Amino acid sequence: MASPIGIFDSGYGGLTIFQKIREALPAYDFLYLGDNARAPYGTRSFEVVYEFTRTAVAKLFACGCPLVILACNTASAKALRTLQQDDLPKSDDPARRILGVIRPTVEAADALSRTKRIGVLGTEGTIASRSYELEMAKLFPQIRVFSEACPMWVPLVENGETGTPAADFFVKRHLESLLAQDEEIDTLILGCTHYPLLLPQIRKFLPPSVSVFPQGECVAASLKDYLTRHPEMDARLSRGGNARFLTTEAAERFSRAAEVFLGGNAEIAAEHIELRDECF
Ligand code: DGL
Repeated sequence: MASPIGIFDSGYGGLTIFQKIREALPAYDFLYLGDNARAPYGTRSFEVVYEFTRTAVAKLFACGCPLVILACNTASAKALRTLQQDDLPKSDDPARRILGVIRPTVEAADALSRTKRIGVLGTEGTIASRSYELEMAKLFPQIRVFSEACPMWVPLVENGETGTPAADFFVKRHLESLLAQDEEIDTLILGCTHYPLLLPQIRKFLPPSVSVFPQGECVAASLKDYLTRHPEMDARLSRGGNARFLTTEAAERFSRAAEVFLGGNAEIAAEHIELRDECF
């Protein structure tokens, strides 16, 4: 059986991470799962995000993925630790692995900020979890983190409203509110994988002195490094250069949107799946 790398997100956002991972590891096979029918996750409770993420990861495991990347900050903030510590050890193959996006992002943060004052934008769930502040305090206590939840941004992306006046309005509002907290922020972490899809609007309202942190590139580089350090996992992964896409929404709808997000000339035939009682 082929053993692709599983990539999970609540919807389309993880495609921004998938794209960078694929550029870094073009020979590998990938299986992407977007839980579009139940997105957004960002406004949901810990229990619900954990339960949704657990069933999605179990589905990717059942499809043969020995390694799953949570290409979702909300799931990484709220479900990753419980999945790694409580669920994986009890599974029938405890050598499988689940990795998130927050740790690799924080690991790269110090090198990118000169003022050591970093802004983080994310969903309500990610910001309320304070995961970025906590990870940063562990690795780089000299860095100050200023954060802002942007609850309207994911619905704008999931509903194809990125180029509209509504997107301008909500992007401007949250950037102003973040920068009002601190004027010396020089690096902005888009702590939600959907947000790069709003990059043109973000750049429009962000002062040129502030750089947007490249989360996709960092996660991809960190995964590449992980595979070099874990040859036992690397040996389990198949190489055919293929990618398959699963969605809990209508397959057609996903295919159309994913083609836009992946840069226009990608042809995608997504498959619809149901997530019910999958377990590890
Ligand atoms: N793209 C996800 C994230 O990085 C989740 C967004 C959502 O479903 O609210 O946080």
